[in-house]
Amino acid sequence: MKVLLIGSGGREHALAWKLTASPLLERLYAAPGNPGIAKHAECVELDIRDNGAVVDFCRDNGVDFVVVGPEAPLVAGLADDLIAAGIPVFGPTAEAAQLEGSKGFTKDLCAAYGIPTAAYARFGDATHAKDYLRKVGTPIVIKADGLAAGKGVTIAMTEDEAFAAVDDCFSGIFGDAGAEVVIEELLEGEEASFFCLCDGKTALPFGTAQDHKRVGEGDTGPNTGGMGAYSPAPVMSPEMISRVMGEIIEPTLKGMEEKGAPFIGVLYAGLMITDEGPKLIEYNVRFGDPECQVLMLRLKDDLLSLMKGAVDGQLAHMSVRWSDDAALTVVMAAKGYPGTPEKGSVIRGSEAATAEGVEIFHAGTALKDGELVANGGRVLNVTALGSTVTEARDKAYDAIGRIDWPEGFCRRDIGWRAIEREAAGTKP
Ligand code: AMP
Ligand code: GLY
Repeated sequence: MKVLLIGSGGREHALAWKLTASPLLERLYAAPGNPGIAKHAECVELDIRDNGAVVDFCRDNGVDFVVVGPEAPLVAGLADDLIAAGIPVFGPTAEAAQLEGSKGFTKDLCAAYGIPTAAYARFGDATHAKDYLRKVGTPIVIKADGLAAGKGVTIAMTEDEAFAAVDDCFSGIFGDAGAEVVIEELLEGEEASFFCLCDGKTALPFGTAQDHKRVGEGDTGPNTGGMGAYSPAPVMSPEMISRVMGEIIEPTLKGMEEKGAPFIGVLYAGLMITDEGPKLIEYNVRFGDPECQVLMLRLKDDLLSLMKGAVDGQLAHMSVRWSDDAALTVVMAAKGYPGTPEKGSVIRGSEAATAEGVEIFHAGTALKDGELVANGGRVLNVTALGSTVTEARDKAYDAIGRIDWPEGFCRRDIGWRAIEREAAGTKP
């Protein structure tokens, strides 16, 4: 198969690395890719916001399968345009991508199908939103309805914070994404990420992970896209997975099919495991970044056949095998992240730092005068396998010690919750 992979981050590097191992793969293109992805794929300069240009590239180059990494092209209808041109694509249509593109859409689906989630209300103006806030009080969660690059969520402890979040949302800082707000109950418990491959009818569980969203050690400071992750998530026992499938994932697929928008691709459920059971925080319609990196290290089966199985409606006849090992990834970021990261600093030793069971995925790098430089906030994902999370962590930090990049930083406590459990010899 000739495959085009859309995206340029650490998630896409991990996908490219795994796709390259497929016996089905004849040629891999990546648009736009990055210097790490270029080791596995031919990187092409395509504007991935221009659906027509992507379709033309596929036609001109005989691409017979497209894998879309990030959510924005999906919400913008890239899958629809590829399907209309007869090109198979792993990723949902724009309508199905509403599961991530509109928080209100997902909440209404949950209400209609009895899917457990935080109690909520939707508002199109600040006055009604604030009247509601006065009634329900704090703590409370305020969310911009649309895609806001991870910045649209405020957990408000006081009424002033809640009002400010509502005003921010309607001030236009999130563009169209802030035309509506969703106000919801604060859930308490342990968060986990759960992935499923979906073919429209069948969902195949595709791994669990936990990530660290805050920039600072001890899970403090501003939110980021994720500073590290590990898999599996100890809290996702086989019993919990089976509850999540029955109570959350299966009704979602049924609901989407009944709406005439069957979901094909990878569905990423952000869950809160509460005292009452699992509740849906949000859906994403793509792999997590950096969760994908740890999943790919543990996946034993052929990724491309599984993705093809999802597109061909064959998942009911397929299964997935995982390594018993744990995987952990540490994000190395450029100083300044998640504010304004410094770009252009030289990174040395990242090739040599790779070792048995350690992969270094590029998230935000570029080549300048033959040298590898930082070109984004999150720059490298140092990812390792180990018989325990503790062992994977030690291998990842050993590799980081061999990378010479004074302008970068990372959290030193990735995996702390699982590592504490391992040290105490306890299960969740
Ligand atoms: P989201 O963009 O919806 O994933 O929200 C970002 C983060 O905010 C989540 O990963 C949670 O940590 C937190 N969050 C969002 N909604 C809730 C909620 N209803 N209760 C508690 N935490 C939440
Ligand atoms: N790591 C969180 C996300 O990909 O949304």
